[in-house]
Amino acid sequence: MRASFDYGGCNVMVVGGTSGINLGIAQAFAEAGARLGVASRRQEKVDAAVAQLSRVGRPALGYAFDVRDAPAVAAGLAAFAADAGPIDVLVSGAAGNFPAPATQISPNGFKSVVDIDLLGTFHVMRAAYPHMRRPGGSLINISAPQATVAMPLQAHVCAAKAGVDMATRCLALEWGPEGLRVNGVVPGPIDGTEGMARLAPDAASRRRVIASVPMRRFGDPVDVARVCLFLGSDAAGYVNGAIIPADGGWSAAGAPLPLPGP
Ligand code: COA
Ligand code: NAP
Repeated sequence: MRASFDYGGCNVMVVGGTSGINLGIAQAFAEAGARLGVASRRQEKVDAAVAQLSRVGRPALGYAFDVRDAPAVAAGLAAFAADAGPIDVLVSGAAGNFPAPATQISPNGFKSVVDIDLLGTFHVMRAAYPHMRRPGGSLINISAPQATVAMPLQAHVCAAKAGVDMATRCLALEWGPEGLRVNGVVPGPIDGTEGMARLAPDAASRRRVIASVPMRRFGDPVDVARVCLFLGSDAAGYVNGAIIPADGGWSAAGAPLPLPGP
């Protein structure tokens, strides 16, 4: 059975949408007919993503900014709304991660991850708010199993993503009355991504991850993208404040990460 959605005439912005899972999400919306905007720090990644997305759908738009820079985020999202029109779906997925024991995470290392994942998400949500189509707009934060499952070497990410999930729920309460829905998606271990390369860098740790997933496979970006297509659509018209895993049951099973050492 095919899951198909029609996003013709819709404007979709994916922040952090220039690689990995988020680029897969952007691609799925482009294939469904949406006008795409993507943003991230590096202009060359933005340009490459815009070229890729424009090959599958309507001409895409790109913006280079750092989610830690609130005025730059506001300017970037205002530019997309000026160029394309009201935003129907906003996906916020920029994130940073490195595995390290807490004793090896400097104050600035912890701050960097919290600034990108948590403050950055808030900057994006807050900047998108005035430009969202209302009623009917859909905001989607990309979370992680770390938000609810404690993991070694991930104190900074666990703290930041837990905050992201709570911000998702709070904004769902505040913006729901205007017909804006705010939800989260929790990817599991997604193959071929920067995140997984950092957390499971060798064959042995990859095997251990697969063995720990109830569905016994890595996910693909399209597995996450399909949940975003649902959340952005009228099919999810009464779904607000939900945080939906697309993880093959990994977080239900405790999402165990391989530990370093023998
Ligand atoms: N172990 C311990 N500390 C680390 C580290 C590691 N592997 N990598 C970076 N840090 C520390 C740095 O030492 C620095 O702290 P210091 O100033 O006390 O020395 C701090 O983190 C910031 O590093 P910097 O490289 O200046 O930050 P940045 O803003 O350029 O990059 C990161 C942010 C560190 C999160 C970087 O990994 C990044 O840009 N990641 C984006 C891609 C990614 O993580 N994708 C996966 C998403 S799940
Ligand atoms: P990725 O390819 O590294 O994607 C991160 C994106 O964010 C890139 O486009 C990156 O581009 C951008 N970005 C990073 N820092 C930024 C900043 N400060 N400002 C603006 N943009 C920034 O990683 P991924 O593994 O696919 O992860 C994508 C999302 O899924 C993240 O939210 C992550 O937490 C979540 N997730 C991933 C997995 C997994 O298995 N990979 C599992 C669970 C959750 P630039 O470098 O150009 O800025």
